[in-house]
Amino acid sequence: MKDFCDLADFSTEDVQRLLVQAKQLEKQQSTVALQGKVLALLFLNPSLRTLTSLQATMTRLGGGTFVISPEMSIHGLETRSGIVMDGTAAEHIKEAVPVIASYADAIGIRTIAPRDKLEDDLEDVYFQQLRSLCDIPVVNLESSIRHPCQSLADWKTLDDLAVPENGGRLVFSWVYHPEALPLAIPGDTIHMAASRGMDVTVLCPEGFNLPPALLNRAQLAGAISGGSVKETSNRNEALDGAHVLYAGSWSSTRFYGDHVNDQKLRNEHADWCVDDSWFENLAADPSYFMHALPVRRGVEVEDHTLDSPRSVVVRQAQNRMSEVRPSVRLPRCHPRYRPRVPKRRVDSGFPSTNRRVFPVDR
Ligand code: CP
Repeated sequence: MKDFCDLADFSTEDVQRLLVQAKQLEKQQSTVALQGKVLALLFLNPSLRTLTSLQATMTRLGGGTFVISPEMSIHGLETRSGIVMDGTAAEHIKEAVPVIASYADAIGIRTIAPRDKLEDDLEDVYFQQLRSLCDIPVVNLESSIRHPCQSLADWKTLDDLAVPENGGRLVFSWVYHPEALPLAIPGDTIHMAASRGMDVTVLCPEGFNLPPALLNRAQLAGAISGGSVKETSNRNEALDGAHVLYAGSWSSTRFYGDHVNDQKLRNEHADWCVDDSWFENLAADPSYFMHALPVRRGVEVEDHTLDSPRSVVVRQAQNRMSEVRPSVRLPRCHPRYRPRVPKRRVDSGFPSTNRRVFPVDR
């Protein structure tokens, strides 16, 4: 029995074993590996790939899923602590999560960042609070700061494309997006690539620099695997000699939680939209373009880049299917109907802000 909440909980060798296991499961096409097992899926934010890859995987392995999200006809969910529930929300997440968990053998949870306080999101406080309400294995389907299922699939994609491990160069570039997005994908991708032994460059405008905690974490992983991590705002310097350009967007870290100033600053960089000119100085031919999806065409990336052979964004999404197999098999031994006493109850407090967790779309 094991949670799958953070790729950093696994050594590079563990990850490589998971990748081998994924290949074996793909070949075996077993339809009984998870027979009779139920995976609960709690989506507090929208999803296409994560939701459907898990549902398809569980079906193919003989198990089943049920999905709970605020858009369904469930009672309005309250997430704040110490609140008098005299508004529209009739159910508190503190009861809802353990009830949902009691119907399943494992639970996958997506709740992306509240984006009020950077330090809380860096500690993944909200996800850890939800996790503490479950006494069954938990799969992180994207939290404030982690997206391990995406990272595992991206690792496989880089392997499939024979992008070098040591000596391979990946640039993770900020691109314009009208919304302030979470730090999970940039933070976890640079950690994944550094763990794979690659030299990673974060490319972003001033004011969007990744927090030192995320850079340090990736640098430490790189130090073990022979990789490295640096940050720059100079596009030519970053892209010169790179094998992979991975694009994504995230909140301004200078104005984290400050919607007005974040918006003002990001609007100054609306020209950060990837097009073919970004690839002029990349090292390898072919060099690759990656993005976790969903992507806003003509805003984050131009059509001709997404439609070119160098774009592997669909392949990344397809690998979500094979890479999710070992992650849902990790918790497969869970004995059902254990006493309902949460073992990891670390904190009774939920975000005490005036915000509930409403769906945030990318
Ligand atoms: N990349 C990713 O997690 O996609 P979804 O939001 O569609 O699940």
